[in-house]
Amino acid sequence: MKIAFLLTAALALPSSNFAIKDSHVVPNGWVELSDAPLDHKLDLQIGIKQENIDALISTLYKVSDPSSPDYGKHLTQQQVSDLIAPKQSTIDAVYAWLKNNGVEGGVLNANKDWLSVTVTVDQAQKMLNTKYKVYQHQESKVVAVRTPSFSLPKYVHHHIDLIQPTTKFTSIPKKIAKSPKTSAPKKLSVSSCDNGVTPQCLNDLYNIGGYTPSSSKSIVGVTGYLGQYANQADLSQFLQSYQPNAASSYSFSTVLVNGGTNPQDSGSAGTEADLDVEYVGALTYPTKHVFYSTGGSPPYIPDANESSNDNEPYLDWLNYMLAQPDGSIPQTITTSYGDDEQTVPYSYAVRVCNDFAQLGARGVSLLFSSGDGGVSGGQYGTCKSNDGKNTREFLPTFPASCPYITAVGGTTGVPETAAGLSSGGFSNYFGTPSYQSANVQSYLKTLGSTYKGLYNATGRGIPDVAAQATGFTIVNQGYETSVDGTSCASPTFAGVVSNLNDYLLGQGKPPLGFLNPWLYSKGFNGLNDITSGSNPGCNTNGFSAGKGWDPVTGLGTPNFKTLQTLV
Ligand SMILES: *[C@@H]1O[C@H](CO)[C@@H](O)[C@H](O)[C@H]1NC(C)=O
Ligand SMILES: *[C@@H]1O[C@H](CO)[C@@H](O)[C@H](O)[C@H]1NC(C)=O
Repeated sequence: MKIAFLLTAALALPSSNFAIKDSHVVPNGWVELSDAPLDHKLDLQIGIKQENIDALISTLYKVSDPSSPDYGKHLTQQQVSDLIAPKQSTIDAVYAWLKNNGVEGGVLNANKDWLSVTVTVDQAQKMLNTKYKVYQHQESKVVAVRTPSFSLPKYVHHHIDLIQPTTKFTSIPKKIAKSPKTSAPKKLSVSSCDNGVTPQCLNDLYNIGGYTPSSSKSIVGVTGYLGQYANQADLSQFLQSYQPNAASSYSFSTVLVNGGTNPQDSGSAGTEADLDVEYVGALTYPTKHVFYSTGGSPPYIPDANESSNDNEPYLDWLNYMLAQPDGSIPQTITTSYGDDEQTVPYSYAVRVCNDFAQLGARGVSLLFSSGDGGVSGGQYGTCKSNDGKNTREFLPTFPASCPYITAVGGTTGVPETAAGLSSGGFSNYFGTPSYQSANVQSYLKTLGSTYKGLYNATGRGIPDVAAQATGFTIVNQGYETSVDGTSCASPTFAGVVSNLNDYLLGQGKPPLGFLNPWLYSKGFNGLNDITSGSNPGCNTNGFSAGKGWDPVTGLGTPNFKTLQTLV
């Protein structure tokens, strides 16, 4: 009797058998304020274990490597989804776990690999055997409800890749430097660049030759997060001054993701978003141009019963994009947001990176700015490891460190040298991918023992390419101003890539898709190698640009007409 009773009790409480699923040290700069209110609502995003990720990655390489017979044979949405969709038994196990916790509903995405469900902190704490706290980022004052560690019952452990918001601390809005328009312009040797960077300057410097897209099949995308809104009136004013051949009716279309908005009052116009749409618009006019505004941002209000909607925006955006039918998504997308890699939980970085690989397999070229802190990484770079040991080290940035995207660093002046702000270095999460290993080895050989211990010699090298990153003239809130940052470089390089894609599509060929295997094997012949300058930080001079690939400017800046002959 006694044994039977114990058995029954154990069966009735299968969830008592917890094991830690994920943990991540609270990033530097965040402090604990209080326990999280039990009635605060969380929109939990449950990443269900995908199948065949290895096959997805090998397919990505096959369709992106010009030496492969499958080059350009991009997958359809359905093919990607069929390849990686979780097993039904996996999905059932996740639902059973929710049910055991009295949680009903849950919304499964089109690919059946993300399940979102709204629960209270009280429910989440029981489901995840953890304790949520309210944390604040000291410098930005951003507040978030998070936990550095959580557990899952063993029976569901291997069916789930990750759950957020848990260990991932909210992205901090990245500020791009604004320099006053009165600062003395550098003397440049391309006359159209004499008064700072404009579309005409980039056209001349990067040998774009006034290319006018005409395929009518290309689409270029700009992502906006964290309350950065793109303003149509600012774009029109900018084009009138700097690209007068663009029709006054030319505009971007707006796609709102996960409760995103894009208010058009002048006061809401964001510097980052305006910069992106103005340069992408000027360089790719009249290409169809989409601005994605993804909701999900702080501030969190600790005592409201409302859901704070502070999910990680890349996940929401990716979820949205991965569900879109073929033909509706841009062939080229630029994103100017990033975090220090170490602030991003490993499980999250891997899943997001694999999700980027899905877009790459479908033929999308994804470009990300590398960051603005030189070797110290992002804006709040501390140059200290986040593992509790506070080891002094250079900080790589994410998503730039994901090997399935193209990271864009920065240059300055003409002739071009590396911009000091250009973040670059080596990932601690992702190993050196084969497409760049010869380049990285050769750079490390030149570097010798310099900075030993400050960087990871087996990591993915960042960035892949570069473009101008200082003194960009933009219109924001009706006024001209000048901005700096790799936020300028990514839309610039994306503009060139979009034109290459347009050129290919016009000939009935597939777009370039994931760029790196092509860039490192062929495309580099159409890039200007940047061989001087460095990216100082962490009380060092940083890495130096040099002949060939380097962790400041990558393979270099574009020469459009030469690239056109190489595609
Ligand atoms: C939140 O909801 C609970 C009950 O649902 C209520 O008792 C509490 O007062 C609410 N808190 C706020 C700040 O509205
Ligand atoms: C260095 O990078 C590799 C990936 O190539 C990773 O496995 C390793 O943990 C990293 N080392 C450190 C100290 O982060």
